[in-house]
Amino acid sequence: MKENLIAQPMYSTNYGKAYLGDSNDLFKIIPDSSIDLVITSPPFALQRKKEYGNKEQDEYIDWLFQFSKPIMRVLKDTGSFVLDMGGAYQKNKPVRSLYNYRVLIKFCDEAGFNLAEEFFWHNPAKLPSPIEWVNKRKIRVKDSVNTVWWFSKTENPKANVRNVLAPYSKRMKKLLSDAENYYKPKLRPSGHDISDRFNHSNGGAIPSNLLQISNTESNSQYLRACKDVGVDPHPARFPSKLPEFFIKFLTDPNDVVLDFFAGSNTTGAVAENLERKWIAFEKEPLYLAASSFRFIDISEKNQESAKIFNELLDTKNGNILLPQIRQTKLLEAERSEQVGDGQRRSARLGEEESKAIC
Ligand SMILES: C[S@@+](CC[C@H](N)C(=O)[O-])C[C@H]1O[C@@H](n2cnc3c(N)ncnc32)[C@H](O)[C@@H]1O
Repeated sequence: MKENLIAQPMYSTNYGKAYLGDSNDLFKIIPDSSIDLVITSPPFALQRKKEYGNKEQDEYIDWLFQFSKPIMRVLKDTGSFVLDMGGAYQKNKPVRSLYNYRVLIKFCDEAGFNLAEEFFWHNPAKLPSPIEWVNKRKIRVKDSVNTVWWFSKTENPKANVRNVLAPYSKRMKKLLSDAENYYKPKLRPSGHDISDRFNHSNGGAIPSNLLQISNTESNSQYLRACKDVGVDPHPARFPSKLPEFFIKFLTDPNDVVLDFFAGSNTTGAVAENLERKWIAFEKEPLYLAASSFRFIDISEKNQESAKIFNELLDTKNGNILLPQIRQTKLLEAERSEQVGDGQRRSARLGEEESKAIC
């Protein structure tokens, strides 16, 4: 890859730059110790075959591991690396692959990352699979949880739970409104000393490491623009709430977030909205060009998205500054467009999820 091409993003916005190319090359443009958060979801390449053989599994782990050194180099000492990985079965057996756990151990033992905490992303809307074990023979349950490894460069990465407090439960709200009647400070049998400080509101509850997020986006601006322009949406997007949680938790405004398998650039759009700087790498031109739809205001000018999309794909152009950055409320707007529960999922979404590989 030519150096001058490396330095030229496909498009840029107020806060970010999206580069087309292989992350192996593109990492070289990032200075040492300059990134606060690397967050990504790697391609689940081997799931094309639906199951992993051992050899393929080892190759996949080695392939992913090649990125460990560049990630470590670009992270600040306070930085974090968050890796979302779906589980898988071994080839032709109702036995789980350990590949995501092997990745975890290899990144810690051989690359020197710390496991700050393991997270589990529960997607209640996930469809049952693999068909053979779950649907046909009914000997395994639906797998609806991804492992999300939160690695850190040092033992003390930047993190602030206050930024991601969860809404209080009804019970807790009642307790806070009428503490005297609901709770008496006492020493619990477990040894926990529940003092009267317990009944002061902290603005929300401490979230757990089980993140419940339905991946049910079915009507966002991104999807609508893809349809208008006649391009297939990215088949393996993660929901915006996933990067949103970690970006809020692990960074401050103006910090820098990198997604080196950006796909439809969900991460960049969330970072933009939260006023964090962002960098996206993606090797597929169509995915990256279509990701621009997340940043332009197409509500009134339907032609605009097609025009920008074609300009971005024209290799003579480089670094197109997107003209109409959506400044605010992107997340809120996208959320209100998300279908709220698994029951109302469209059949189309089901099809999309079943081919959610890339
Ligand atoms: C699981 S998808 C990421 C989807 C993304 N989280 C989203 O919400 O749209 C992984 C992406 O990594 C890209 N990819 C795979 N290998 C790559 C490489 N070596 N360099 C850059 N991108 C790569 C694929 O083209 C794919 O779009």
